[in-house]
Amino acid sequence: MPCTVIVGAFWGDEGKGKIISYLALKDRIDFCVRTGSVNAAHTVWKDGQKFALHMVPAAFVYEKTRLLIAAGANVHVGQFFKELEQTKVDGRMGVDQNASVIEEKHSVQDKASAFNKGIGTTGWGVGPALEERVRRTAKLARDIPELKPFLTDSVQEINDGLDNGKRVLLEGTQGFMLSLFHGTYPYVTGRDTGASAIASEAGVGPTRVDDVLIVYKSFMTRVGAGPLPGEVTKEEALKRGWFETAAGTGRDRRSAPFDFDLAKKTAKINGATQAAVTKLDSMFPTCQGARKLDDLTDEAKSFIKEVEKRTGVPVVLVGTGPDALDIIDLRK
Ligand code: IMP
Ligand code: MG
Repeated sequence: MPCTVIVGAFWGDEGKGKIISYLALKDRIDFCVRTGSVNAAHTVWKDGQKFALHMVPAAFVYEKTRLLIAAGANVHVGQFFKELEQTKVDGRMGVDQNASVIEEKHSVQDKASAFNKGIGTTGWGVGPALEERVRRTAKLARDIPELKPFLTDSVQEINDGLDNGKRVLLEGTQGFMLSLFHGTYPYVTGRDTGASAIASEAGVGPTRVDDVLIVYKSFMTRVGAGPLPGEVTKEEALKRGWFETAAGTGRDRRSAPFDFDLAKKTAKINGATQAAVTKLDSMFPTCQGARKLDDLTDEAKSFIKEVEKRTGVPVVLVGTGPDALDIIDLRK
């Protein structure tokens, strides 16, 4: 705090949405800035209702947070309005004027590309949309009349907020191993997903960031093609209780046990100062809903200790269930 970057450690779906929703409520976050694009779905529970958010920042659960879409982000206008209807956050939602726009034609191009099919993209068209931005032919948010009521200079809002001691969350999407630069190329997404890139998309200089909170899931998952070290079969994943399907596309998630060496590497490259470990209850079912360290079994506690020891990063939050408040908060 006051400016924290939330970054995923592996291949996305680490539970960033849940961690952000908790922090929003607990720390009364003033600004939450969503980066990336529509390919990433952040799952958030509010009043027993499940939201899979592709556009609206996960901090929407706290009704005072100003919600922003970053200058470097890529807006899907249809999905944006659909989520506004679901979340009813019109009055506090802003879209940076310089954000680019992803259109139906990009999805058509994505789905028609044999190469992208081989990668197993989400099919939303994020790669083709970003290509257009690089060519300087993309439409920007400021070119879209329907977005007019939401347009803002989010970069100025955020930096003015930081000048005034406001609390800001920079919401990363996907995971570090899907980074265009640092991931398992070519089995990656169309942008850098690391902490520095998240700050860059939001327009926040590196020296203004106070904390980088890296989000680990207790096991690793991946959707689409590409390497996944230690991968187990679907049958084995079902047996271990950690088989999942994707929140966005409904595809099966491939899975593997937690990789401590990879966790250490991703912590270092992202400059992580804090870590969250999510879905501890999928690994250790008796920990479901625990809200105190003492409620965990010895086995679960030693897993958390091992994560700290092997990554060198303090674990400050432990997720034990889907609700925003199913969490053990170890911050002082
Ligand atoms: P694209 O980002 O749609 O181009 O897909 C490229 C790769 O990133 C594919 O393996 C996708 O499954 C993966 N991917 C993209 N977004 C997400 C996400 O939010 N969670 C998990 N995997 C993702
Ligand atoms: Mg997801």
